[in-house]
Amino acid sequence: MKLMNYVNGQWRDNPDTKFTAVLNPANGEELAQVPLSTAKEVDEAVLAAKAAQKKWAKVPAPKRADYLYDIGRLMKQKKEELAQVLTKEMGKVIEEARGEVQEGIDMAYYMAGEGRRLFGETTPSELADKFAMSVRAPIGVVGLITPWNFPVAIATWKSFPAIVAGNAFIWKPATETPMMAYEMAKIFEEAGLPPGVANIVFGSGSEVGTAMIEHPDVKVISFTGSTETGRKVAEAGGRNLKKISLEMGGKNAVIVMEDANLELAVEGILWSAFGTAGQRCTACSRVIVHKDVKEALQNLLLEKTSALTIGDGLDESVKIGPVINKGALEKTHSYIGIGQEEGAALLTGGKILEEAPHDKGHYYAPTIFTDVAPDMRIAQEEIFGPVISIIEVGSFEEAIEVNNSVIYGLSSSIYTADVNRVFKAQRDLDTGIVYINAGTTGAEIHLPFGGTKGTGNGHRDSGVAALDVFTEWKSVYVDF
Ligand code: ALA
Repeated sequence: MKLMNYVNGQWRDNPDTKFTAVLNPANGEELAQVPLSTAKEVDEAVLAAKAAQKKWAKVPAPKRADYLYDIGRLMKQKKEELAQVLTKEMGKVIEEARGEVQEGIDMAYYMAGEGRRLFGETTPSELADKFAMSVRAPIGVVGLITPWNFPVAIATWKSFPAIVAGNAFIWKPATETPMMAYEMAKIFEEAGLPPGVANIVFGSGSEVGTAMIEHPDVKVISFTGSTETGRKVAEAGGRNLKKISLEMGGKNAVIVMEDANLELAVEGILWSAFGTAGQRCTACSRVIVHKDVKEALQNLLLEKTSALTIGDGLDESVKIGPVINKGALEKTHSYIGIGQEEGAALLTGGKILEEAPHDKGHYYAPTIFTDVAPDMRIAQEEIFGPVISIIEVGSFEEAIEVNNSVIYGLSSSIYTADVNRVFKAQRDLDTGIVYINAGTTGAEIHLPFGGTKGTGNGHRDSGVAALDVFTEWKSVYVDF
């Protein structure tokens, strides 16, 4: 199947376009061919979006929201079909894929509601016979650049608030996972979204992404991806005076105190570390444990890790799917040598699974390092694979300090039965998301999503805060 760009409500097929294959990471099977578009296709999409946005901005926000109800309903009808496509192209297990599609459905209904609450403010004027108010105004054409690890959810966190706020968008999905975007384009079409409001241009970051960032008529770039790329996006966007919203890496930790429920903690660690094969920006990659329970926690973690089944995520009994591609496999594996050279002890895993039934896909054994020092590279750098580092601490204060000692600040978690520690932790953990007695993943769409320090630049996806990215405040004075 050859995918096509979706521009101005049309499926665009350019005879000069080159394509690249989309491969199922579970077995190497070719699923589709994705276009590698160029700046020319971006120009065409921006032109269409610009014209469409002028009309779209005049549609009342509650009416714009109605389209999101329809999009949400269509996603709900097709939930299983979408989840199957997601698992095939991305590799996450089917249960997680269903959860991700549900996140998109929730986002549609939530943002539809926000269309009826796109509130501004009225303010008492200093002067007589003057009325003062502020309104949220749409910005224009916005660019969305999304990663392969959440091919649909992250796109909905960005595109739905963009739509409801009265913008038109150009979306560049990751070339590894374009099929979900293709499915979403069909849904936009079926929901009757006016042509040009939603545009999808497939291609590489260096070609299509750069063309979007450099285009003078794209006013906002909302990017999710690595900190390295995000920095380049911010630099180029800064030169072009664009609003840039970045959601980047994480080095998230679960803290386990001596009074924690260990069974509960292990459940949270396993799911947040090895779910999606560790390829979440929110994945737990550090376990900071009080010395009194380190041994017990380690033993329990080892026992439960060895029971995890690894394989094709379409198989309902499988708990861990493949990583996205060979590059991810090799990057993950390179950290095993790095950790060992630094003096960490490998408890389990540390290998690429190469024998049948794993020989055709990109499978990595869930890996646990222990005796890790907080400043080792395996405890500082984002690996983006199923690898955790156990770090021992002697006190609550030390646990907080170790948690905060990384360049990232996305998600953190603490297991404790002490209510005072709970309140201190939510204050002192320097991350955008804090979990108490739960793992580091599973953020819902009602709250802002994003992080501090190297994870973000002050903007948020999801929640009502997402509207700040896609609207401008306009102050209006009426003299009477
Ligand atoms: N909702 C996903 C998580 O929190 C991104 O892991």
